Amino acid sequence: MHNKQDFPALINSDVAYLDSASSTQKPAVVIERMSHVMSAGYANIHRGLYKWSQDLTLAYEATRKNLANFINAYSENEIIFTSNATESVNLVAQSWGRANLCQGDEVIISAMEHHANIVPWQLLRDQIGIVLKIIPVMDDGTLDLNEFKALLSAKTKMVSIVHISNATGVVNDIETVIKTAKSYNKDIKILIDASQSIVHRPIDVHQIGCDFMVFTGHKMYGPTGVGVLWAHEDILNSMPPYKGGGDMIDVVRFDETTYKKAPARFEAGTPAIAEVIGLGQAIDFIQAIGFDTIQSHEREMTRYLKSCLDAINGLEILGAGNDNCEHAGIYSFNLTGIHTSDVAMVLDQMNVAVRTGHHCCMPLMQRFNVEGTIRASIGLYTSKNDIDKLGQALIKAQEMLL
Ligand code: ALA
Repeated sequence: MHNKQDFPALINSDVAYLDSASSTQKPAVVIERMSHVMSAGYANIHRGLYKWSQDLTLAYEATRKNLANFINAYSENEIIFTSNATESVNLVAQSWGRANLCQGDEVIISAMEHHANIVPWQLLRDQIGIVLKIIPVMDDGTLDLNEFKALLSAKTKMVSIVHISNATGVVNDIETVIKTAKSYNKDIKILIDASQSIVHRPIDVHQIGCDFMVFTGHKMYGPTGVGVLWAHEDILNSMPPYKGGGDMIDVVRFDETTYKKAPARFEAGTPAIAEVIGLGQAIDFIQAIGFDTIQSHEREMTRYLKSCLDAINGLEILGAGNDNCEHAGIYSFNLTGIHTSDVAMVLDQMNVAVRTGHHCCMPLMQRFNVEGTIRASIGLYTSKNDIDKLGQALIKAQEMLL
């Protein structure tokens, strides 16, 4: 199952695209759907009583329902469209956080978080004086869950962690994290950053048992500019608006304004109409292939990628995990004695696309005493040939640069 033919950028291309953790390629059906939205009966939504506006309103709201089914939410009202996962975390920190946290309250994150799950909490710390506690990462890249237990206290109000590390591909045991936190105190809220996991495996928010989940459209074969926040409807309706403007209000007067319930409460202004509908199409695309097929292909590619990297002398994988830990299709590594940017240049010359640098995870890089890494990540279109090209390019880089 390579499905490259579904992705216009990959058809007849020599590029081995191994940067899907950064952003996935877009299937033709998504591109065509978005183009159709803008070229056949385009209008603003929620505002017009004419056909074009009403048709697009229905399509936009159908995506909300589609997404609710995709993650097994109880209701489409639990789905908030944001601009990306980063905005979703900021929304929770600024709306839920400011309304529910006081000076001295504790938020626990981990040392492997993306900056998007660190900086919003630091902003809140600087605004209201919360305390940030950090779950350490062990040498194999997994979370130190014993330390996590020790961090819990009567002041803990929120645990906000990533499901699959974008930097290392380590799959966190979020079930244990949630069980540990909730049995310590059932009122502790849990936010899961599912930006990487949402595209690789079926996600069921109720089975997971979290209170908030965030992810982004562009890492799941959809467009940029649309992200998702999921939370229980009663939590959302207890939260104050995050942004003010059109479409989120009941009545506006100069002395007082009242707000709609979720989801409208959190979607001020004209939304990303074509992008949301494009994301709905991406979900249809994923579901038509099915997670059984996707997971079986991606597991094979992940094993193949690991064995290709293991075969190269002088290559060190960062956070390879352990036998009890699952690993998603992402590996981060360095070639001993060669700077990552120099490797990246050789790889680019050989048409191999990977990400190099800190991967928006500077604290994790500091934990491992590296400036950055080379990161290869796969998607449902990745082939063994792409991975072979990476292996050949890495050996070439060693020949040229060592
Ligand atoms: N978060 C994206 C990445 O991991 C941009 O590359």
